[in-house]
Amino acid sequence: MGTALSACGGGKGEPTLKRAYGETFYVGAAVSPETLVSDGELILREFGGLTPENIMKPGPIHPVESRYDFREADRLLDFAEENGLLVHGHTLVWHNQTGAWMFRDGAERASSALLDRRLEEHISSVAGRYRGRIAYWDVVNEALSDGPGFYREDSPWYEIMGPEYIEKAFRYAHTADPEARLYYNDYNAVDPVKREKIYTLASELLEKGVPLHGIGIQGHWSLEWPPLADVEAAIDRYASLGLEVQITELDISVYEFREREALYDGPSRELMERQARRYGDLYALFARKGDALAGVTTWGVADDHTWLDNFPVKNRKNWPLLFDGEGEPKPAYYAALEGAKEIP
Ligand code: G3I
Repeated sequence: MGTALSACGGGKGEPTLKRAYGETFYVGAAVSPETLVSDGELILREFGGLTPENIMKPGPIHPVESRYDFREADRLLDFAEENGLLVHGHTLVWHNQTGAWMFRDGAERASSALLDRRLEEHISSVAGRYRGRIAYWDVVNEALSDGPGFYREDSPWYEIMGPEYIEKAFRYAHTADPEARLYYNDYNAVDPVKREKIYTLASELLEKGVPLHGIGIQGHWSLEWPPLADVEAAIDRYASLGLEVQITELDISVYEFREREALYDGPSRELMERQARRYGDLYALFARKGDALAGVTTWGVADDHTWLDNFPVKNRKNWPLLFDGEGEPKPAYYAALEGAKEIP
């Protein structure tokens, strides 16, 4: 993508996302090893932070009990440090993308004591290796239920250890890297029902003296959902606990979640303008909420690489980010920049 970049802004004094918002919150992007190379110039121009999209998750970084694979994570940390970007680690504990071995003991299910030892070992090895180099860690990801229950009960962490794995994970992470700001991260975090679960979990952890510093609102949203008022209410609610808040995985799908049959031929002007209005409204809100927000990260850099091409429908192209497949700024990018006018 490198060649087109000089034509699309970022020259001396021209606005970029990080110039517009950098004093208010850090502007991050989730990256893969491939996009770090293909979009490197664009990343350095626009963004102030990186989240590894997959490579620091337990499965990729700790594929078998006796072996870690730190190669890609080391490369990402080196790139970030050489270029003055901060890193948001993602994620130490998740029910997904974790090696099956973690929950096994030979042919049997691991006991609670064994899983606890592995939890501590995993966190101290990963967070300990990068001690002092990771600004934020998503310590526990998606541990609460979207249904009637409170906890995500079909997580092997919960099934084997009960809810205690959550506070233990935060304590182990704090011991491994006392400087890192530790986050609980989830989707549907602005839905009023799930918001209250997250609020309750966070209050309980804080009451117990667990080192929790922030809440990550993932932000996998669409043109119509969620209402802006819900986004604002969630930021306010979490901030009322004295916690930092980040939008950690923002993208705006052109399809509503329920629209499994819908299919657009391409990113029409009308569609991209609707998306721009949505991004504009959101960034204007983020600007107004700057005191509560530590960061806003998009879940990807440009539309050529997005998980939404395969979710919730496989092989259906989506265009959810601020830059198009060529790395050129979309109407959504200019609308996001405009939002900075709302910074008090
Ligand atoms: O690396 C393998 C490759 O070896 C294999 O050939 C290929 C075949 O399918 O799969 C590759 O792994 C894929 C991996 O992404 C890396 O590209 C997995 O199949 C695929 O399931 C995985 O998807 C990731 C997803 O998390 C897993 O749940 C997405 O890239 C990633 O964007 C997504 O990110 C999550 C956040 O971590 C948490 N919040 C929700 C968010 C979106 O689901």
